Amino acid sequence: MSSLIVQGGARLTGRVRIGGSKNASVAIMPATLFGAGPTRLEDLPDINDVKVFSEILCALGARVDRQEDGSVIIDPTGLSRWDAPYELVKRLRASYYLLGVLLGRFGKAEVALPGGCDIGLRPIDQHLKGFRALGAQVSMEHGMVKLKAKELRGAEIYLDVVSVGATINIMLAATMAKGTTVIENAAKEPHIVDLANLLNAMGARVQGAGTDVVKIRGTDQLNGCTHAVIPDDIEAGTYVMMAAATHGDVRVENIIPQHLDSVLAKLREAGVIVEENGDWVRVAAPGRLKAVSVKTLPYPGFPTDLQQPFVAMMTTAEGVSIVHETIWDNRFGYANELIRMGARIKIDGRTAFIEGVPKLFGIPVCSKNDLRAGAALIIAALSADGESEVDGMEYVDRGYERIDEKMRSLGATVRRAG
Ligand code: EPZ
Repeated sequence: MSSLIVQGGARLTGRVRIGGSKNASVAIMPATLFGAGPTRLEDLPDINDVKVFSEILCALGARVDRQEDGSVIIDPTGLSRWDAPYELVKRLRASYYLLGVLLGRFGKAEVALPGGCDIGLRPIDQHLKGFRALGAQVSMEHGMVKLKAKELRGAEIYLDVVSVGATINIMLAATMAKGTTVIENAAKEPHIVDLANLLNAMGARVQGAGTDVVKIRGTDQLNGCTHAVIPDDIEAGTYVMMAAATHGDVRVENIIPQHLDSVLAKLREAGVIVEENGDWVRVAAPGRLKAVSVKTLPYPGFPTDLQQPFVAMMTTAEGVSIVHETIWDNRFGYANELIRMGARIKIDGRTAFIEGVPKLFGIPVCSKNDLRAGAALIIAALSADGESEVDGMEYVDRGYERIDEKMRSLGATVRRAG
């Protein structure tokens, strides 16, 4: 396991540039396989999930090349496989988007069910409900999801739960179906809109992405295009909380502030100065933060992926904060490590009660298989007294591009170890 050594106590100041969205990238990369020619992706972040997906796409016969200028060209013309075995996909949960793409492209798909972060059960029943509605036969054998369809036909699909993954996977398969598909109770996350923009740039006809009704009129020919991936709202929120937790003054650049509305509102409630301006926000927190309560919800609610960084930030706030996690059934595993650092946290099911303390103390801590838990422990280490060693950086590197370099540029004393 690789780790990060963090000297606590520095106020973060300066400017940090946010990279492309991890959760948009892992949907957009497989979507480019629909193209009759290559697609150029700009602002695709240099993170482990993108590296792993690149290896997977190459194993299926596509070519993925990062250019001198940082853009990435994905050429699907050599795509020859419609199966993705476990050894290929086990490192990347989002590989399940290959189900929608390969089904749309070949009329069949066999993809191993991957694991994923330790945040609770990760069902895909809504994905499969959508594929069946489009006319696919679905079977599960030896951990493989197998799909087959003589012909995909548009359908009306009502999602039982608001699911980002199911919305995206059904959008992908419906793109190549005959006729029109309507997804109701769809998720509205920014990366769903970004995927729709990519598909439409390739010649698809997707309407309503970002609302809870998405309409996809199928087509049989998509072409390559050029697309810039949207900035990562979760990375941005993480740096905003690093700045607030260290009582710093930071300008977080290359973001879409509207994507962070719920987060910035909560920070203002906590007494943080937040200045929004076009594609950047300035965050300053001279005094002690005030305790604030939050409930995680699908977009545009407070994002579950910033629940852990938020709890870490609240450990030294004045008063008691209550955080209720509505999306995942086991996303407080990291709280034990914060308690070892001196935090006062009680967990009751999906609710955390955080009683603010004056200080945390730096110690060795370990983030289990959840990159956002790792981010939370880094935030706690930055604001703690003394040195911490945060283990499990291989998980953090899945979704945070060059996090140690970016933190050093803001004045943090951090170095990699192991
Ligand atoms: C995506 O996961 C993100 N991952 C997660 O981010 C994020 O936490 C989640 O959306 C919610 O925003 C990617 O985009 C790669 P869901 P996903 O389907 O699509 C239930 C990170 O840290 N559900 O929206 O798997 C499910 O159990 C990761 O970057 C079903 O019941 O999440 C959950 O309670 C962690 N049946 C809820 O819906 C299904 O078929 C939301 O899940 C699918 C989901």
